[in-house]
Amino acid sequence: MDMPKKPIRLAVIVGSTRQGRLGPTVAKWFIERARVHGGLDTDVIDLAEAGLPSELGGPPKEGKYASAEVNAYARRIAEAEAFVVVTPEYNRGYPAALKLAIDSVYAEWHAKPVGFVSHGGQSGGLRAVEQLRQVFAELHTVTVRDSVSFPMAWEQFDEDGNPHDAEGAGVAAKQLLDELVWWAEALRQARADRPYAF
Ligand SMILES: Cc1cc2nc3c(=O)[nH]c(=O)nc-3n(C[C@H](O)[C@H](O)[C@H](O)COP(=O)(O)O)c2cc1C
Repeated sequence: MDMPKKPIRLAVIVGSTRQGRLGPTVAKWFIERARVHGGLDTDVIDLAEAGLPSELGGPPKEGKYASAEVNAYARRIAEAEAFVVVTPEYNRGYPAALKLAIDSVYAEWHAKPVGFVSHGGQSGGLRAVEQLRQVFAELHTVTVRDSVSFPMAWEQFDEDGNPHDAEGAGVAAKQLLDELVWWAEALRQARADRPYAF
């Protein structure tokens, strides 16, 4: 009989920080999808609450970054075995707060999978996602093929925070999570067999 697998530690990163943002509604829906999926232990990193300094403090010295906030955030990124970035699209790109969060740490991202849930206007945030794939390549991550996207996102959720097309969105979330868990398990094993030292 197979031993039950240790749940994958998933960090869901909420990439928008502005007043009145939709991001947390989208994230809350996705976190519930992750709970239903099973096999995941989820940490929610809301960048509006992470308190990251707006200037980068450089690489860690003797394992410590320059500020307490970055150290706390780095620990959460290090503990995660997979990431889902919930991102809006701003002027065909992704939010500045998200770039700051990505750039604030480095090795903590390595050899882990990243998935995307995007929300935007016409494009559903897909232009932001394609830009993020380029950035995450530099961080030695694997971005998974399938994503969830909400075009005209402000019209997509009811007052309880449920998508009007709950079935379609749920199918997309399951596909993303299936791919993410496959990679997370494969890379967990690979990191244990051989340190990723590049
Ligand atoms: C400054 C700004 C720029 C935007 N630019 C775009 C854009 O270029 N393309 C698009 O599809 N939607 C664009 N939108 C719409 C947002 O992507 C969409 O409303 C999203 O759900 C906002 O997420 P938030 O409320 O969490 O910030 C923009 C919204 C803002 C506030």
